[in-house]
Amino acid sequence: GTTVRYEAENAAITQGVVESNHAGYSGTGFVNYDSAVGSRVQWTVTAPTAGTAALRFRYANGTTVNRPMDITVNGTLVADEFAFTGTGAWTTWQTRTLTVTLPAGTSTIRAAATTANGGPNVDYLEV
Ligand code: GCU
Repeated sequence: GTTVRYEAENAAITQGVVESNHAGYSGTGFVNYDSAVGSRVQWTVTAPTAGTAALRFRYANGTTVNRPMDITVNGTLVADEFAFTGTGAWTTWQTRTLTVTLPAGTSTIRAAATTANGGPNVDYLEV
């Protein structure tokens, strides 16, 4: 089916800021998560029909330490401490894909940091 890109800078951000100081991002910037457990980005996405969907997160982590995040779909945990390992530089962006089941219509997808380091820098979610 069609892939739709949802920029992180256009999503609902809690404990994070939009920045643009590391090149290679899509759109107008990326989200720099606050260094806190629970810092998060929540997207509202639309699926034309119910079924499986690939969630593709684009991120950068310029450290050598994993920045795991809990991924929830409509409030249900679908990936516990999903790993966002180091990408080598803050300007090196990579994607991680998670396959989930979505209902038809709108869903909320949340990516919340689970360590005091916060999340990685997040560029977008594609569905
Ligand atoms: C650096 C980097 C930020 C990043 C931060 C972090 O300050 O410039 O983009 O978010 O490290 O460790 O989270």
